[in-house]
Amino acid sequence: MRMYDLIMKKRNGGCLSEAEVRYMIEQYTKGEIPDYQMSAMTMAIYFQGMSEEETLHLTMAMRDSGDTLDLSAIDGIKVDKHSTGGVGDKTSLTLTPMVAACGLKVAKMSGRGLGHTGGTIDKLESFEGFSTEISTDTFINNVNSIGIAIMGQTADLAPADKKLYALRDVTATVDNMSLIASSIMSKKLAAGADAIVLDVKTGSGAFMKNEDDAKALAKEMVTLGKNAGKNTMAVISDMDQPLGYAVGNILEVQEAIDTLNGNGPEDFMELCLTLGSLMLIAGGVAKDEVEAREKCLKVIEDGSALDKFAAFVAAQYGDNSYVYHPEKFPVAPIVEEILSPVSGYIKHIECDEIGICSLILGGGRETKESEIDLRVGLILHKKVGDYVKAGESLATIYASDETKKKQAVQRFLNAYQFTDEMIEKKSVIKTIIS
Ligand code: URA
Repeated sequence: MRMYDLIMKKRNGGCLSEAEVRYMIEQYTKGEIPDYQMSAMTMAIYFQGMSEEETLHLTMAMRDSGDTLDLSAIDGIKVDKHSTGGVGDKTSLTLTPMVAACGLKVAKMSGRGLGHTGGTIDKLESFEGFSTEISTDTFINNVNSIGIAIMGQTADLAPADKKLYALRDVTATVDNMSLIASSIMSKKLAAGADAIVLDVKTGSGAFMKNEDDAKALAKEMVTLGKNAGKNTMAVISDMDQPLGYAVGNILEVQEAIDTLNGNGPEDFMELCLTLGSLMLIAGGVAKDEVEAREKCLKVIEDGSALDKFAAFVAAQYGDNSYVYHPEKFPVAPIVEEILSPVSGYIKHIECDEIGICSLILGGGRETKESEIDLRVGLILHKKVGDYVKAGESLATIYASDETKKKQAVQRFLNAYQFTDEMIEKKSVIKTIIS
């Protein structure tokens, strides 16, 4: 087989066979196929697309390019959750202890963030001592004994995707549906869960700006999961404005804890309940949505979800006194209100821009090597549909230096649009695909 022939076949609109896709991925992972040939192939795929069957072959070949996690030593049905990411997305922090307190086994691999704020691991590192660098044995033991463990993504998991994603990133070939779906699902399938719940975001702060694209991506991933023998479902959720009110690492951890205490923002709580219900049903812990929601609400009310979070933080060497006393977390040196320049209803928030404010403040990484300032970020006080008076606070900004604060405030104010007309508030949940 020659890569040259495969590129030509795809360029001319042909379909690659399973053997051809496997050859290409195996040889590329080994370094036998150079980046320039793979770039030509991804560009050909970008323009010609891939059939459902080809996308499945690509997903499975990337899944098999490295280690796959064997979770069979964990009793029960293991359910994983994945979000395509967005501004203020702290869902895993609240959702995982909530469903674990209901009896579900949560064995999760998470990543660090590149972009607006840190990823789940960065946020968890707000707890002094917390580590996701635990052995597979500790990971499995913790899931069996506590019901929850989170591990950093190992380099050996789907290495073909790691290499290919980095190449797509610099060759303008990221935004192809088949390539995105196979990239995400190859990692999820390698992580070993029996069922997968996907949270696909749509809106100005998401990868998929429009709802139809988000639906198409979700359908593609659900089909891939099912064809790979995993019970897979997806929620399309709103990212036209930040999720909840908090954007920034420690601020998001505090909001996640407030939510576990029953005092969370409505949209964030609704998303956790929707995803949690799907996870409990997929894991055989609840028979239907009514029972699943009741269970989730009960563990919030009786404090067992919060206790589960504390047990999990302690089991991964973190100081869990912060779970019960989130006011102990360090606070940024500059805390100021951002005042509304006008009176009116909030018509639109350019969500991406709010993420960029957090990045400017130092809350996210511009490169893999960047250090995150866990203290900085924003707490919004007004979201789409809310009324604000001129001079009233739109948000509280947490900054570590004046210059960055000024830049972020300017961008923040430019991201808000106002109107005199009342605006209807939108639901955070758009569609469920199962
Ligand atoms: N996230 C991934 O893991 N892969 C993509 O291709 C896009 C987003």
